[in-house]
Amino acid sequence: MCGIVGYVGKKNCVNYVLDGLKHLEYRGYDSAGIALFENDEVKIIKKCGKLDELIKYINSTKKIESNCAIGHTRWATHGKPSDLNSHPHRQNKVTVVHNGIIENYEELKEILKEKGYCFKTQTDTEVVAALLDYYYEGDPIKAIEKLTEKLDGSYSLGILFSDIKDTVYGTRKNSPLIVGVGENENFLASDIPAIIKNTKKYIVLEKGEIAILKKDSLKIVDFSGKEKEKKILTIDWDIEAAEKNGFPHFMLKEIFEQPQVIKKCFRTRLLEDDVDFEIKNLPDEKIKQIKKIHIVACGTAMHAGLVGKNILEKLVRIPVEVEVASEFRYKNPILNKDDLVILISQSGETADTLAALRLAKERNVFTLAIVNVVSSSIARESDSVLYTWAGPEISVASTKAYSVQLACLYLLTLKFAKIFKTIEKEKLKEYCKFLNKIPDVVNDVLKLNDKIKELAKIFYNNKNMFYIGRGLDQCLALEGSLKLKELSYIHSEAYAAGELKHGPISLIEEKTPVVAILTQTNLSLKTISNIKEVIARGADVLLIYNDEKNIDSSLLEYSIKLPKTIDLFSPLYSIIPLQLFAYHIAVFKKCDVDKPRNLAKSVTVE
Ligand code: F6R
Repeated sequence: MCGIVGYVGKKNCVNYVLDGLKHLEYRGYDSAGIALFENDEVKIIKKCGKLDELIKYINSTKKIESNCAIGHTRWATHGKPSDLNSHPHRQNKVTVVHNGIIENYEELKEILKEKGYCFKTQTDTEVVAALLDYYYEGDPIKAIEKLTEKLDGSYSLGILFSDIKDTVYGTRKNSPLIVGVGENENFLASDIPAIIKNTKKYIVLEKGEIAILKKDSLKIVDFSGKEKEKKILTIDWDIEAAEKNGFPHFMLKEIFEQPQVIKKCFRTRLLEDDVDFEIKNLPDEKIKQIKKIHIVACGTAMHAGLVGKNILEKLVRIPVEVEVASEFRYKNPILNKDDLVILISQSGETADTLAALRLAKERNVFTLAIVNVVSSSIARESDSVLYTWAGPEISVASTKAYSVQLACLYLLTLKFAKIFKTIEKEKLKEYCKFLNKIPDVVNDVLKLNDKIKELAKIFYNNKNMFYIGRGLDQCLALEGSLKLKELSYIHSEAYAAGELKHGPISLIEEKTPVVAILTQTNLSLKTISNIKEVIARGADVLLIYNDEKNIDSSLLEYSIKLPKTIDLFSPLYSIIPLQLFAYHIAVFKKCDVDKPRNLAKSVTVE
């Protein structure tokens, strides 16, 4: 939700800031803007629309000479996307870019109006600029401290004071902000892809800290102005991971990366015929005490959680609840001391999941995060973390992160089953041996890409679609349906196949497309009956299946055959055709695949 960058150094800042913003566009793309020091003055350039609009505008004007700037790419919250509502926002000496939401901005705005401030925009950020200007009497640290005492909500801020030349200030609460450490140059950013081309060294800023960036110095201070010793971290992946590398879209590249990232996620945790990994702060003795598991997450990560529930309950026989984080945090959940709360998040910054984590911690329940982004807030604040190691996921629609979330849940399930002695040794061996083969199976399924593209061409003109399945296949139906609707704006619903007849079947008419997933042997006959029920009412069924048994030609008009393996593990590769199907449909519909409308990666607002 909104991306922030800052640069100060010897070089011309414009390209650095624009390139940084390009790599943060996944966080929001309603508008973009930049504020920079030019001839001792702060100049602001901002444009509604994608970053390219701003770049085009800057390229059409006189070359800018500046060594210090802040920039912003927006996901609109307060005030519709417009040039005026775009960041940066200035009030007198203070210019800010902001990621987050200030909840009490209306109240602060009224107070500031009484003090003589005028507001031109509908944003909460302009109020931040005004309040900071109000407190600013030459001491930026004091002013920032007073500002943060008054703000309710979440924020990361990049700040320029017009009388402190070539200096960028940054501070944060509940929205991410990192500082890139360079040679004669320093960077501020919401996320690593914005800085990785220029430096691999970075510092994670915490709540209550202020970063002061100059070209030849970098300080992190607390609100009393005292310098803090901060750990400098090293980024362990390369710029190629944040580039398209010849693929037309990040999404397709990330779908095709799945065999490698699953392999990486298994490495050091999965042996040839066993699982072997520690969960920090959660020894086996403590695991044995667990009576109930709550999996809390949002969107795709929550769908991974549904698969987790299914396999944990099946193999470990522990009750598992899967909760949408935005509901969990407000429902006064029943949590007992022997429960385990698992938070799943790609970004590690999702506001609702973070709040759920904090609630669980307040109640003294052990929290385990399954997270992709290293050192993100959820990873840092949870009692323990299992990193998914997928590398950066840039496409707004999550694909490879989902697969490695599943991979971690499978590892965790087998570990727990071992500890609870709910799995026989031979079975465990068989399962581990098979898990080792998953990257190859995923590779084989990716070879179906052309066939899936042809099917997408047949179906892309529809306005509605249904996804059905039973058991694990229902979890996949939900994820497949989400991918389709978020990317291609086709209305789509996912149902447990047996549930259709209780209402939704009345929506099935001649040519209604139904994607049916059929990979679970024990449920197969029941699902086939449900598929026949929709065919009888005229539906066009696209069948994704892995076993010919009981399948007659009436089911195969449109179909994708997957490898037949162990049913329990089918989600790890059955998701691929669903991802590719949604991808190709979006491409045929000429949708912006990597940046679907109204969405942003990393949802840091509630
Ligand atoms: C959909 C998608 C979202 C995210 C959700 C949670 O493709 O990406 O539904 O899964 O916003 O995000 P994280 O995993 O970052 O907490």
